Amino acid sequence: MRLQLLVNDVLHKIEASPGESLLKVLRRLGTFSVKHGCETGECGACAVLLDGKPVNSCVYLAAQAQGHDIRTVESVGEHPQQGWKATRGLHPLQQAFVETGAIQCGYCTPAMVLAAKELLERNPNPTEGEVREALAGVLCRCTGYLKPVQAVLRAAAVMRGEVVEPIDGSLQAGEDWLPVEPAAPSVFDGPADLPPGGDVLAPTQVMPRMRVVRETQTWERVGKPEPKVDAVKLVQGKPAFAADIERRGMLVAKVLHSPHAHACIKHIDASRARELEGVAAVLTHLDIPRVVFSTAGQSDPIPGPLDTFSLDNKVRFVGDRVAFVAAETEEIAEQALRLIEVEYEELPVLLDPTKAMDPDAPRLHDQPEYVNFADSDPSRNLAAQIHIDIGDVEGGFAEADHIFEAEYAVPKVQQAHIEPHVAVTYWDEDDRLVIHTSTQVPFHVRRILAPVLGLPIKRIRVIKPRIGGGFGGKQEILIEDVAAHLTIATGRPVSYETTREEEFIAARSRHPMRVRMKTGVKADGTMTANAMYVVSDTGANGAHALTVTGNTGHKAMALYVGDGPFRQSPNIRFYADIVYTNTPPSGAYRGYGVPQGFWPIERHMEMIARKLGLDPLDFRLKNALRAGELHPFSTAWSEGREPRPETIQTCGLEECVRQGKAAIGWDQKYGKPAWHQMVDQQGQPHPYLRRGIGVALVMQGTAIPYLDMGGASIKMNDDGSFNLLVGATDLGTGSDTVLAQMAAEVLGVPLEDVIVYSSDTDFTPFDKGAYASSTTYISGAAVVRAAEAVAVRIRERAAHMLNTAEDRPQGAALLTAGDIRLSGRRAHAPDGRSLSLSEIGHNALHHENQEQIMGTGSFVSPVSPPPFAAQFAEVTVDTQTGQVVVEQLVMAVDSGVIVNPVTASGQIEGGMTQALGYAVCEEMVYDEKGRARERDLRDYHIFLANEMPELQTIFVETFEPSHPFGVKAAAEIPMDGVAPAVGNAILDASGAEIFANPATPEKVWRALPAQEGG
Ligand code: FES
Ligand code: FES
Repeated sequence: MRLQLLVNDVLHKIEASPGESLLKVLRRLGTFSVKHGCETGECGACAVLLDGKPVNSCVYLAAQAQGHDIRTVESVGEHPQQGWKATRGLHPLQQAFVETGAIQCGYCTPAMVLAAKELLERNPNPTEGEVREALAGVLCRCTGYLKPVQAVLRAAAVMRGEVVEPIDGSLQAGEDWLPVEPAAPSVFDGPADLPPGGDVLAPTQVMPRMRVVRETQTWERVGKPEPKVDAVKLVQGKPAFAADIERRGMLVAKVLHSPHAHACIKHIDASRARELEGVAAVLTHLDIPRVVFSTAGQSDPIPGPLDTFSLDNKVRFVGDRVAFVAAETEEIAEQALRLIEVEYEELPVLLDPTKAMDPDAPRLHDQPEYVNFADSDPSRNLAAQIHIDIGDVEGGFAEADHIFEAEYAVPKVQQAHIEPHVAVTYWDEDDRLVIHTSTQVPFHVRRILAPVLGLPIKRIRVIKPRIGGGFGGKQEILIEDVAAHLTIATGRPVSYETTREEEFIAARSRHPMRVRMKTGVKADGTMTANAMYVVSDTGANGAHALTVTGNTGHKAMALYVGDGPFRQSPNIRFYADIVYTNTPPSGAYRGYGVPQGFWPIERHMEMIARKLGLDPLDFRLKNALRAGELHPFSTAWSEGREPRPETIQTCGLEECVRQGKAAIGWDQKYGKPAWHQMVDQQGQPHPYLRRGIGVALVMQGTAIPYLDMGGASIKMNDDGSFNLLVGATDLGTGSDTVLAQMAAEVLGVPLEDVIVYSSDTDFTPFDKGAYASSTTYISGAAVVRAAEAVAVRIRERAAHMLNTAEDRPQGAALLTAGDIRLSGRRAHAPDGRSLSLSEIGHNALHHENQEQIMGTGSFVSPVSPPPFAAQFAEVTVDTQTGQVVVEQLVMAVDSGVIVNPVTASGQIEGGMTQALGYAVCEEMVYDEKGRARERDLRDYHIFLANEMPELQTIFVETFEPSHPFGVKAAAEIPMDGVAPAVGNAILDASGAEIFANPATPEKVWRALPAQEGG
């Protein structure tokens, strides 16, 4: 049908099918700010303004939009610095989103800006609650909403003509604390106390509270809240993501998924699908080479079994791959899927990992190509096994006055990044295969796919554009082979973008585990031995099986070593069976096994402290690891390399506890009956609402020692700017920005003079990719090395230029490179003379002893310095229904030096929010045939802007000596402590002991003492 659509003041005359959504038409028209995050109207990423009102364009027919005014972010603000053409620049909303760190991956940002714009046009002075309501239609998986809400309030103030404070934080020296904003009484519906308009200083609360170390005080770029280097293009909705790539003649790929959890494919006939007009290729397991591989995006050698084929003659979970189709349109591809005839022979379904280990259980992996790794044993459906004994565990139990045993469970949960997986493949003019993909691991994609595709590595180029969140879900070779096989089959470009349902049934998720704890404790609270046995469900494939579950022990069980003599010789046991079942494969998810460990450990510690009548924080700190002590697992286990002893250099845990306690008011609340008892509107004790407070202490790691490698190269331009090329993968975390800050610090330039490019396997140096909390630490150290190599060349040339300059003071000693200091875009000599970097760049490229000033650097760490944190939670429990409302989360973190307080606190806020879902609502459940219950973002609920508790981040800096800027990791640790802190707070409020998260109302209600007693 012919339509006329008015989009951003331009009338488009188009052809559209009657059922075509407005989203698809808008993207066809090149308005790429309108994003695809689902197909069912739940994520809001596709929002546009229709006659000024937000609508979700994925569930709005293009035909319905005819005659209406359609606006997208492309019409908001103007693009600054477009050559000679004067523009007004960004809209105040866009500017505020950039300044406040409201943009992480940026995938939801255009929709958020539109939702906020509509709000401010009808209500120029909204309350925070009203802003949260307005943003509640747009899901964000990265930010925790705190900074987007602050961005909207800031923009509103600007638009009312008020003065806003700069986001510079005014960091205090030494032991001083940043000025502390009093905690807001509530994030909801508090009255906006700003008068409408006038010369009012409007506060913007996006800086974390922090204590900074002295080493940072002379630094100009590191430690500062610089806006993200990619923020402007993201807030403008520029075509920066994989799905925004267009190629002439590009085909659309679709995958046929198995309806059975376990079956052999007896017969498959794709002839009718192939005959359908518009179908370019249909591939089954009969059509492509049978090459076994692991989908885990990890360094070589892969620390796990090889048990996966692009297409196999057996399916092992509902959602497993059966066939690939490439067609001219999505509709034709979907029609072709329905024409593929498959005859299955159903096999017994294994859903219980314990039963899967029975000797008589059916075997999931009986293919002869299966490649064992270490302790995998497919005859028992074991993808991996772990047996670690540190010290004398049985002896430790014998020394204990009390033994505490309990069983816990953690669920399967989804990363739920708002951008689905997307890959675009094509042959370039040299017949090399180009893969644009939303991956966290471009170099691993290239290496692992080469044999699968039958191509040498040198004929594959992998390009990572902006990524709309990954959280581990994109540390997997999950989709690239689909598009690549189809490009090889057809010779044409192919795009494969998963649907939200495919994300749930066919992508990766967090390993569910059952955990048995046994802990020996003396009467005074000294832990004498601690043991954990884990049954981990890896699903149908064993990618990440060993390493995720290994970290459950390696990171979580390392925190408590015991006190006194046990500090030198702790007794710790960690055993694990990692088992195949007929469920979608588990994989990497932010935290990488550690959240699964801290739920049982921190629930167990709480139980022990309460049973022994000990203060829960004193008991934890008495037994916790300290600086100067050996990481107990460092001599026992490592991911993929021989373990080597590692001493903890820095640990700010005690200070984190002190600061977190003060921030949440622990001493005024814990153990105070009056505080626990809520009152009703008449001031009487509330009959069924109870308050509770809980805590969890956690630690993580920073990179994988002797294994993870990052590389960087920097070249100088003739205007004194620099190109920084990194293989590191910014998936919305801000890593491009913090890497540029480190380079800028060394080179003495503002951030805008460092142009970052990441990552393209043809042009950027190798990097292992974004995982294991390693980018700021590993890739950052590589950047520092590259920058120092460049700085040396600049100083040498500057010294030479100043030595031969006419203004050289008579009789002055010759300058050397060591005399030159780089700062403020200049090279300064001690005699007061200086040269601009532009003069030096020009001299190098055009005038004298010409050379390209450039440097490279690589870094592999011999250690994995742990960050530490204290996580506090405050809840209200409805003892009639079991409903839990989390009121406040406070996290005090030692992540070493904080390179960028705004991006780092954004990581903590976003991580706490994901972890909050793990605590109270997120869970993937399967029926008896292995069919998923959760297939969209309605059934799988992630937190909305108007459902959030108050979030507070506190950074307690330490200076980690193994890194030039003293950093440790920040991105994963916020995943670890929220669930147990909330579980402990529920216990504190109501007496309900929850052994399996999430703490749903039903579970809490059933665990209430009144129910158990009855
Ligand atoms: S893409 Fe439209 S609501 Fe998700
Ligand atoms: S910044 Fe919102 S989804 Fe990533």
